[in-house]
Amino acid sequence: MNSQADRTLHALKSQREGRLELDQRALDAAREQLGDGAVTPAYGPWRDDIVRLLNDALATELVCVLRYKRHHFTAHGLAAPRIAEEFLVHANEEAAHADRLAARIVQLGGEPDFAPDRLSARSHADYDESPDLKGMLRANLVAERIAVEGYRQMVRLVGDKDPTTRRLLEDILRDEEEHADELADLLFD
Ligand SMILES: [Fe+2]
Ligand SMILES: [Fe+2]
Repeated sequence: MNSQADRTLHALKSQREGRLELDQRALDAAREQLGDGAVTPAYGPWRDDIVRLLNDALATELVCVLRYKRHHFTAHGLAAPRIAEEFLVHANEEAAHADRLAARIVQLGGEPDFAPDRLSARSHADYDESPDLKGMLRANLVAERIAVEGYRQMVRLVGDKDPTTRRLLEDILRDEEEHADELADLLFD
């Protein structure tokens, strides 16, 4: 066997023996701290950071619900019925996002923060009281684009530290991209 083939074989072997082995100590540790439920001792030092990120996303979703509700009920003009309906659909989808984030925060042993006086300070996107349809559409598009950017960054930050949270964030990101796309169509078509 030549040395190149030897090295390749050795690399494959160490991959099999080293990198793809389960961590037995972490498996054993999962027998302890049963009160933590889904969070095992090897979860890593990221729990507080991830809960904080999720809580800020929760605040953003709740502010988005309020903004879309305001717009749904105050939209008027020729194109208003269709657009007002779209605002309501988005409001309900943002509320569903908020629910999923809150449930995950609790699963991670955290406290979901619904305190009204802290919401706008922690939200990434703004509340809006634009009086006209164009202003509403623009404010919502800006908020959705901020949400898209926020979730994309969170997906990267969470990475493989917590695959379940990452999948949740990816799901929500896909919805926010659809929202932004729909609003851009309404605003510019
Ligand atoms: Fe959302
Ligand atoms: Fe959205």
